[in-house]
Amino acid sequence: MAREKVITTVPADEVKTHDAALRPKLLKEVIGQRKVAEKLEVAVQASKKLNEPLGHILFDGPPGLGKTTFATVLPNELGTSIQLTSGPALSKPADMLPFLTNLDEGSILFIDEIHRMPRVVEEFIYPAMEDFRIDIVLGEGMSARTISMNLKRFTLIGATTRSGMLSGPMRDRFKMHEHLEFYSVEELAQIVRINAAKLNTPITDGAALELAQRSRGTPRVANSRLYWARSYAAARHDGNITEPIARAALDMAEVDRGGLDKNDRKYLEVLIELYGGGPTGVEALAATINLASDTLSDEIEPYLLREQYITRSPRGRVAMPRAYTALGKLPPKAKPDDKQGTLFE
Ligand SMILES: Nc1ncnc2c1ncn2[C@@H]1O[C@H](COP(=O)(O)OP(=O)(O)OP(=O)(O)O)[C@@H](O)[C@H]1O
Ligand SMILES: [Mg+2]
Repeated sequence: MAREKVITTVPADEVKTHDAALRPKLLKEVIGQRKVAEKLEVAVQASKKLNEPLGHILFDGPPGLGKTTFATVLPNELGTSIQLTSGPALSKPADMLPFLTNLDEGSILFIDEIHRMPRVVEEFIYPAMEDFRIDIVLGEGMSARTISMNLKRFTLIGATTRSGMLSGPMRDRFKMHEHLEFYSVEELAQIVRINAAKLNTPITDGAALELAQRSRGTPRVANSRLYWARSYAAARHDGNITEPIARAALDMAEVDRGGLDKNDRKYLEVLIELYGGGPTGVEALAATINLASDTLSDEIEPYLLREQYITRSPRGRVAMPRAYTALGKLPPKAKPDDKQGTLFE
């Protein structure tokens, strides 16, 4: 995937390798997201009993919450194969052909970042999704003709960080639409303990909790914090991750006690110090921080919004009292006419 991960403490390609190594293989190994997992269990059982392919599924939610994980677990549950591609790699309908012609009966085609697929490709796969058929135009001008080709019955799984950017007709063609939420600290602590065991790294419950608390509600971040603490424990100590070691490792990585990292704090600093706490447009913030505005809205803001460090107003982003406290500043007093507490003097 081309998009750079900025919310982690290790380089993007390294994170990808970690992702693959620690990714759950079966639904029962997936921690949290119980409602989603239970619905998928029902869908898988039904698919097997009725001998029908699973209906098309769309996963949406911020990066690192398990969209690819769910997609790659499903073929294992169904005993079928999966092909993986992504929206930006599909620039024209012909780019879809190798995937569509390689399908096995009941197999899965996973399209990551599906909101970045061009409209022509989208329209090309509508009949594939509805009737397992594609229409191919041969020749040009007067001699052009369309031939229809039948496909094996398959399941399309789409993943997106921006379901709002998906066209209505595309969204409607998915039978299930599952939104992934941020994880609780307990769920993340469980993921950390399981993954430490996979990495043969002893960790205390207190240390797992410390890492979980400082992982922005995100399993991918928890994994990268764990990798860092493991390196720190091996380099500076005997390899065991205890609570003081976890704390020291994260302090050194500049992850604060609330779990915010350098980019989060930079965002809040710019919003408060340069733009007086907002309201400010995301483009202006992105230009000042020198990051793509997509990175801000996809990777940094969802957690800050959820934890009420910031809020969105029609005129832009606004810093909330918690943002001031996180930076060791005194929050300004709310204006008397501001019932929601989003405007500050
Ligand atoms: N529910 C879960 N239980 C255990 N581990 C998980 C879970 N969800 C995610 N993880 C871990 O977090 C890593 C990142 O998750 P994943 O790659 O599925 O995120 P994603 O939503 O596809 O992110 P992106 O939008 O960046 O593609 C996985 O490799 C896995 O190790
Ligand atoms: Mg993914």
